[in-house]
Amino acid sequence: LTTLLLVALLSYLAGSIPFGVVITRLLGLGNLRDIGSGNIGATNVLRTGNKGAALATLLLDAGKGGIAVLLARALTGAEDAAQLAALASFIGHLFPVWLGFRGGKGVATFLGTALALAWPVGLACCLTWLATAKISKISSLSALVATLSAALWMWLFGHPAMIALGLLLAALVWWRHAANLQRLLAGTEPRIGQK
Ligand code: G3P
Repeated sequence: LTTLLLVALLSYLAGSIPFGVVITRLLGLGNLRDIGSGNIGATNVLRTGNKGAALATLLLDAGKGGIAVLLARALTGAEDAAQLAALASFIGHLFPVWLGFRGGKGVATFLGTALALAWPVGLACCLTWLATAKISKISSLSALVATLSAALWMWLFGHPAMIALGLLLAALVWWRHAANLQRLLAGTEPRIGQK
């Protein structure tokens, strides 16, 4: 039990590092909260106009979730612990202790944990995101479709034990996109890179 608590705590702390905020501040690009949607993710970092900063945010936010999962698996050898690490790092990104628990929407961290839990599932989610983005040019819509598709890929690629977690994380991503959903329905959601 102590091992599981340690896994949860370390994963939460890793997940709660707000790389978007850190990178934009380090590069002197301003305060992310005052830019675009005010969100701490890569999509909003891109609205600063700095593509490298956005890419770094995407990779680091995904990486922190992926590393938490891989570390938990290496430490315990148990898939339950790997799933717990995925959940805890994701919760860390949504509710980071460093930002007064006001965090992000969890898309990159979702993708990173999916890749580490079962790479074909993660890859399918990333390709779903890319395909939706290619057609719609809208990041939030791509995230909504990609996260919802995860349960389908888990089922298709033979990981039924992950479906409950996949649905829970997707539900949290959708909940965090409430404002995006309203803008999507109103037809006012900006395209990728637009301010
Ligand atoms: O990853 C978050 C993305 O889906 C939406 O971001 O800044 O447009 O609300 P944003």
